[in-house]
Amino acid sequence: MSAILKDPLLHLRPMQEADVEAVAAVETEAYEFPWSPGIFLDCLRVGYCCWVCILRREVVAYGVMSVAVGESHILNLCVRPDMQGQGLGRKLLGYLLGVARGHHTDTVFLEVRPSNRVAIGLYSTLGFNQVGVRRAYYPARRGREDALILARSL
Ligand SMILES: CC(C)(COP(=O)(O)OP(=O)(O)OC[C@H]1O[C@@H](n2cnc3c(N)ncnc32)[C@H](O)[C@@H]1OP(=O)(O)O)[C@@H](O)C(=O)NCCC(=O)NCCS
Repeated sequence: MSAILKDPLLHLRPMQEADVEAVAAVETEAYEFPWSPGIFLDCLRVGYCCWVCILRREVVAYGVMSVAVGESHILNLCVRPDMQGQGLGRKLLGYLLGVARGHHTDTVFLEVRPSNRVAIGLYSTLGFNQVGVRRAYYPARRGREDALILARSL
């Protein structure tokens, strides 16, 4: 286990509106086409499951998941770039799957760019399989990029 996962000052808690500025700063560092702060606020206001991973009072990762009858949808999963590759993404995704289970979810869905090899590696080791493609779903530097739709039964 990486040292960071053993750090007693690492913890997960529900995201609050006061976190959105820090979350959006990580989002801008991590993605070429980031969500705006307003999107995170909307997610909180509609009651999506939004979690932050805190280390020494700083947001180092977060996840956003919608939960409906029987199915959940992971809408965002992100680790601060300087913290990537140390197991935080796996820990957070595992936690979100537990939250989904607690809501009696049968199937968890998510979308991922085919170019995002790291994320696809993570999802496949946690039991996600491709169930479809959304054509031209994401903005890209040149035009649009498809989304792979992945799903996992719980
Ligand atoms: C995708 C992301 C959430 C993964 O989180 P992470 O903390 O970096 O990943 P972890 O350290 O938990 O590693 C989990 C798995 O990802 C894959 N992975 C991680 N780093 C990798 C790398 N550099 N190269 C290839 N695969 C890698 C491996 O399958 C790894 O499993 P392993 O440790 O058993 O080999 C993170 O890289 C991220 O936030 N990326 C930017 C935002 C993003 O793309 N989010 C996903 C949108 S769908």
